[in-house]
Amino acid sequence: MPEALIVFASLTGNTEHMAHIVANALEKRGITVEILDCMQADAQDFLDYEICLIGSYTYGVDGVLPDEMIDFHEELGELDLSDKVFGVFGSGDDFYEVFCAAVDFFEEQFLKAGATLGGPSVKVNLDAEEEDVIRLEALANSIAEKFIN
Ligand SMILES: Cc1cc2nc3c(=O)[nH]c(=O)nc-3n(C[C@H](O)[C@H](O)[C@H](O)COP(=O)(O)O)c2cc1C
Repeated sequence: MPEALIVFASLTGNTEHMAHIVANALEKRGITVEILDCMQADAQDFLDYEICLIGSYTYGVDGVLPDEMIDFHEELGELDLSDKVFGVFGSGDDFYEVFCAAVDFFEEQFLKAGATLGGPSVKVNLDAEEEDVIRLEALANSIAEKFIN
């Protein structure tokens, strides 16, 4: 079975909660999952996994990346992840003009690295509610299905 690494950035816990929802759904499909705070991870860590996931909140009036994700984001785009399947999710607040922009930034970067989109990226307003849980589980299931022969 493939193994997955989820790297997340979360200030108040909403994105971290999403990471655990995705991890549980992947584990139900028999996939081993490691979850790392971005402070404990390098983009190169993804090279050891078949499934690469990033969860990031969005920060700043222009919808910029969290400070602790800037280097990670840059390094990600320099990797060759052409044999990997990826997924992206994140929490934001729809009060802001640019909602969950970090999710789009990471999706772009994974594509630049040559990785294959595992399923639609998931943007959540604040903490995940029931319909968000369904979308997060759908992302995990869509990724898992890529590994069924
Ligand atoms: C100063 C500040 C700026 C923010 N800017 C944005 C933004 O531009 N777009 C957005 O969608 N959310 C923005 N947010 C909202 C956070 O992304 C949101 O609170 C999110 O749920 C935090 O996730 P976390 O609990 O994983 O840290 C901002 C929050 C703060 C405190």
